[in-house]
Amino acid sequence: MKKISRIRVMVYMMVFLGIIFVPAWSWAEEAKPGKTIDNLQTAYNGESNASAKYQAYAVQADTEGYHKIARLFRAAASAEQVHLKNHAEVIKSMGATPMADIKLPMVKSTKENLEDAIKGETYERSKMYPDFIAQADDENNAAAVQSFSFAQDAEAEHAMLYKKALENMDKWKKADVNFFVCPTCGYTVEDRPGFANCPLCGMPAADYLIIS
Ligand SMILES: [Fe+2]
Ligand SMILES: [Fe+2]
Repeated sequence: MKKISRIRVMVYMMVFLGIIFVPAWSWAEEAKPGKTIDNLQTAYNGESNASAKYQAYAVQADTEGYHKIARLFRAAASAEQVHLKNHAEVIKSMGATPMADIKLPMVKSTKENLEDAIKGETYERSKMYPDFIAQADDENNAAAVQSFSFAQDAEAEHAMLYKKALENMDKWKKADVNFFVCPTCGYTVEDRPGFANCPLCGMPAADYLIIS
C-alpha cells in the first residue's frame, strides 16, 4: 500500500513538473530576447541615411549630365525606402518605435559618389546583413530574418548596378531606360523586368515601381 502511494506521488510530481517546465521551455524557444531589436534599429537608420544620400547623389549626377546614373540613384533610394519600411514594421511588431538620425549627406563628384555607394552596399550585403540574419535566426525571429534577407539580396543588385555605372559612365549620360523596383522587397532591375514574378519575394513584376 505504502509502495503504490509512493509511485503515485512520483507520477503526480512528473505530471506537475511537465506542466510547469515544458511550456516554459517552449516559450524560450519561440522568443529569445537578444540583439535583433538593436540590429533592426541599426538597419532602419542605415537604410534611412542611404535613401537620403542617394537622392542627393541623383541631383549631383543630373547636374553633371549623367542622367541614367541619376535614375539608378533614385531607384536605389526608392528600394532603401522599401527596406526601411519593412524593418519599421518588424520593430513596431516587437513593441518598439523605429528611430533614425538622418545626417546631411556629403556629396562629391558622381564618380566618387558611385565609389562610396559601392562601398556601402558591399559592406551591407557581405557583412552587416549576414551577421544580422544569423543573429535573428538564432533568436527565432522569422520576420526579422525575412526583412534582413530582402535587403541583403537587393543590396547585392545595387552594388552590381553601381559597378556597371562606374565602368560605363560616359554611356550612362543618356537616360535611355527606366529602372524598376519591387515595392515589397526592393529588388531593383535596369529596364523592364524580363520575368513574371519577383525573384526575391514572388510578387508580380507588373506591380514594380517605375523609376525615371
Ligand atoms: Fe541598397
Ligand atoms: Fe520583390
